[in-house]
Amino acid sequence: MTTTTAVTVRVPAKVNLQLAVGPAREDGYHDLVNVFHAVALFDEVTVTGARTRATGGPAELTAEDASGGALAAHVARVPLDSTNLAWRAAELLAHEAGARQPVRLHVRKAIPVAGGMAGGSADAAAALVACDAFWGTGLDRGRLLELAARLGSDVAFPLVGGTAVGTGRGEVLAPARCATRLHWAFALSEGGLSTPGVFGAYDRLRPDAPRPRADPALMAALEAGDAAGVGAALSNDLQPAAVSLRPVLAESLEAGRAAGALGAFVSGSGPTCAFLAESAEHAERVAAAVRTASDCTHAVTAYGDVPGAVIR
Ligand code: C5P
Repeated sequence: MTTTTAVTVRVPAKVNLQLAVGPAREDGYHDLVNVFHAVALFDEVTVTGARTRATGGPAELTAEDASGGALAAHVARVPLDSTNLAWRAAELLAHEAGARQPVRLHVRKAIPVAGGMAGGSADAAAALVACDAFWGTGLDRGRLLELAARLGSDVAFPLVGGTAVGTGRGEVLAPARCATRLHWAFALSEGGLSTPGVFGAYDRLRPDAPRPRADPALMAALEAGDAAGVGAALSNDLQPAAVSLRPVLAESLEAGRAAGALGAFVSGSGPTCAFLAESAEHAERVAAAVRTASDCTHAVTAYGDVPGAVIR
């Protein structure tokens, strides 16, 4: 019998092509229509064995900047304890599968932290896949998706990747076809926005929110591979709430529009701003333009869609 010594899983960031938010539910969540799109900006989670006796959670969690220093301030904010969703993912899987072998988790980050690109959720999805392989628990896909949905509304999607429509609180996924490669620029900001804080601001701004519905124009443009049509249909109900909490985001959005972006919007609950470009070269030009905005500390480009979490 061979013993696995390390498993590394690569997992993508997401951007929401549509985020339609209904009124607050009794459980505090909101019904959503959330069109997820996985982009080629990847975190990596590595699981190795540890000598410490298992307590359920990992023996240690460490984090590293994979972007050559640009995300140093982000990585400094990564919690290294049980408040980290990747830690909780390892703990949940150990509990469900009865795994006993203690592990360490190491996260290499290229996805912004508290940035609206589901970096923490991606790390949790990667930790599930990596621990499953490390422990040889062999859970089927459906079971992993179920555990992911228990961890958070955005954890199931990075297991699947591609483009998908999320309903419920975002965790019920139906795959969608994106018939062309989409080229993106992202403006990262140093200040994180808290997801519950942004949803709270949304409730104050939109007490009369209607039931969320998928936008047929967006779905038709995706199916037809019409990037300009996708750009025209991009929408995020949380954007006014995010901008109300961080008004300087308006300047980043304007810089991207001025550079000819096909669409400019806040990603998820922000503060990352996303810009759809016409080509990879145009995405580089948009990134250069948004870097000049006062809130933008770092701009990157990435294409989508890409597959979900994979073992390297
Ligand atoms: O599910 P997750 O832990 O990622 O959600 C974080 C927070 O985001 C929730 O506590 C809630 O405030 C808000 N949220 C929401 N409705 C959703 C998803 C998230 O209100 N569908």
